[in-house]
Amino acid sequence: MSKFKVTKAVIPVAGMGTRFLPATKAMPKEMLPLIDKPVIQYVVEEAVAAGLDDVLMITGRNKNALENHFDRATELEHTLTAKGDHGKLDKVQESTDLANVHYVRQGDPLGLGHAVLRAKAHVAEHSFAVLLGDDVIDSRDVLLAKMLEVHESTGSNVIALMEVDPDQIHLYGCASVVPTDDPDVVTISHLVEKPKNEDAPSNLAVIGRYVLRQEMFGVLEQTAPGRGGEIQLTDALQTAAADPSIAGGVVGVIFKGRRYDTGDKLDFIKATLRIGVDRSDIGEDLRAWLHDFAKEI
Ligand code: UTP
Repeated sequence: MSKFKVTKAVIPVAGMGTRFLPATKAMPKEMLPLIDKPVIQYVVEEAVAAGLDDVLMITGRNKNALENHFDRATELEHTLTAKGDHGKLDKVQESTDLANVHYVRQGDPLGLGHAVLRAKAHVAEHSFAVLLGDDVIDSRDVLLAKMLEVHESTGSNVIALMEVDPDQIHLYGCASVVPTDDPDVVTISHLVEKPKNEDAPSNLAVIGRYVLRQEMFGVLEQTAPGRGGEIQLTDALQTAAADPSIAGGVVGVIFKGRRYDTGDKLDFIKATLRIGVDRSDIGEDLRAWLHDFAKEI
């Protein structure tokens, strides 16, 4: 198998989720539900849809709820079976049968780069995908499949980029890019984590999907703590972008679809509504209510 053929997904879920306190005091933010499914299930479903059913979660405090969600729920399953309620039983079993989910603890939350490093033993010698556990890509839009295709054909690390308002770029990693023949793919010449708006080299923000070569573990091991005293994945990718001989350089796939940062309160509400209005069970009623509500406010 080519070393650039990806089969494993790494999902960091060990952040503190401070923007969502107090809801995240005793529960990881990735367990917050969008309608009736926890955010993490959307992310695992995206990985599986792209062919990655070996999933490693990097967990932090309060990991039990996450593990239980992807485990059997024997008592609940027995009760629903006895009642003959197969619809609800399917919903309970959906997450258990979805993927082979493995877990490793991050220990101290020393940053996203540190969380990714914890995947080294599991990933071994192959390239792997990283999906941030609070970042939801709408399943109606394609991103990861394109990133995997670009990785296989170029052998470079691949990041996902999205245009944002220039006054929002300080919230993201930001990329300087050079165009390629494919209008959706760019070569990354420079990356900076959360620049001041006035110093940002572009309005292209790094969003939570990555396809990384295994050499990135070595780069992360050499990466000193950066912004906020955390080991930043963006800093390691900047090292790789600056010298392609280290880990094959970095390219970006520009995403123009729907993406929700569910760790952010406003984006979380937008995600609920965007997904809700198209649901077959509640969509019609929600749309009608939203029209009336819009007149009230
Ligand atoms: P965020 O910066 O969005 O997560 O990290 P956070 O620290 O939980 O956010 P707030 O600001 O306190 O609300 C992006 C992703 O990286 C993971 C998070 O779980 C999230 O999926 N992460 C971050 C880790 O797994 N470990 C870390 O040390 C930091």
